[in-house]
Order: sequence, then structure tokens, then C-alpha cells
Amino acid sequence: MKFFVDTADIAAIAELNDLGMVDGVTTNPSLILKSGRDIIEVTREIAELVDGPVSAEVVALDAPAMIAEGRKLAAIAPNIAVKLPLTWDGLKACKVLSGEGFMVNVTLCFSANQALLAAKAGASFISPFIGRLDDINLDGMELIEDIRIIYDNYGFETEILAASIRTVNHVLECARIGADVMTAPPEVIKKLASHPLTDAGLATFLKDWEKTGQKIL
Ligand code: E4P
Repeated sequence: MKFFVDTADIAAIAELNDLGMVDGVTTNPSLILKSGRDIIEVTREIAELVDGPVSAEVVALDAPAMIAEGRKLAAIAPNIAVKLPLTWDGLKACKVLSGEGFMVNVTLCFSANQALLAAKAGASFISPFIGRLDDINLDGMELIEDIRIIYDNYGFETEILAASIRTVNHVLECARIGADVMTAPPEVIKKLASHPLTDAGLATFLKDWEKTGQKIL
């Protein structure tokens, strides 16, 4: 499963990228707001830093304006994926921009039927939002399972980009189901390394090591 980082925080991306943990980056208008940066400048910086796809989201609501914004965002760097909302106009823009050879990430997906439409419109990525479904007591993971089955049934090449990942268990479940990509905030990715038994084991080893009176260096 590929790891995308869901942030526009350059320092956080760089730290994970140095470890080889970054296969791509996703941003959205809320994350741009949080960064306090200009969308074009920060997106360019991210796209220079990482090799993989960097999603940059349009904010227009009608297809012609989405297409114009998408072309402008795609011109920032060759690894930009234009992020479009899963609306009827978003699908129209997806068809046009993917036809022009741009990567398109269709976002705000909350049903398998929406995912089916995005694949038919030529999306490179579909972003089902797990956490936001869980927030309203629906099962986000069931959606990932349904999309996996449907895409495999018909051989769609659109990659399932599990989004709105909030917990380490979300990551585990996505990997078990076979999501192609997951995007999570840096803190969630770093949490994957933690286990209380690792901490407890390390504490015991260090205590015993002290008693040996030895030094390695
Ligand atoms: C994905 O592309 C979105 O930017 C993101 O995963 C949304 O996550 P949230 O629901 O935690 O805001």
C-alpha cells in the first residue's frame, strides 16, 4: 500500500520523505488554510520535494471553471494530481482533464456508486473518506471493501486512495482490504511505529544493560 501524507506542512513532509515513507501528498483547502501559505507556492515546494503525485484541489463549482483551475494547478509541476469534488460537474471536469493526460484525484467520495462513476470518468485516484463516515456512525471500511470488489470485478485501473484516515487501525484495515493508497496526517503515520510492548521491552533492556556496567561506544 502506498503512503500519501495528508498535509501542506513542508517540514512534516520532509521528515517522512527522508525516511522513504512518502509516496505522494494530498492537500485540500482546509490544509492550505492551516499552512498559512499561498496555494501555488506551497504546492510547488511540495511537488519539488517529493517524487510522487501531489494532489491540489480546485475550488470552483462548475465544470468549465474547474477545468480552468485544474489546468493552472497542473501547470505547477508534472507530478500534480488535480483534485476534483465528486459532483456531476466534477465528473465532467475529470473526463476532460484526464483526457488531456493530467492525473485526477476525485475527492469527497462517500458511496461505491460515486466511485464507479469516477472510474468511468477516467479518474487516476478515488478518495473515499473513511473518518467522516465513521463520524456519522456509518462504516467507512465497508465502503473501501465495496469499491475494491467493484473495481476488481471490472478491471478499473483507478487507484483506491483511502482518505480521512484518523487511526492506526484505519491504516491496518485498508492494507488488509487492499486499498492501493492511504493518505493520513503525519501524526498518524508516525504513530504506526508505536507499541506499548516495544516501550516496555526497551525500558527493561536498558535497565538490565545499566546493571552490566558495559558500554558499546
Ligand atoms: C483527503 O484527500 C483529505 O484531504 C483528507 O483525508 C480529509 O481528512 P479529514 O476528514 O480528517 O479532514
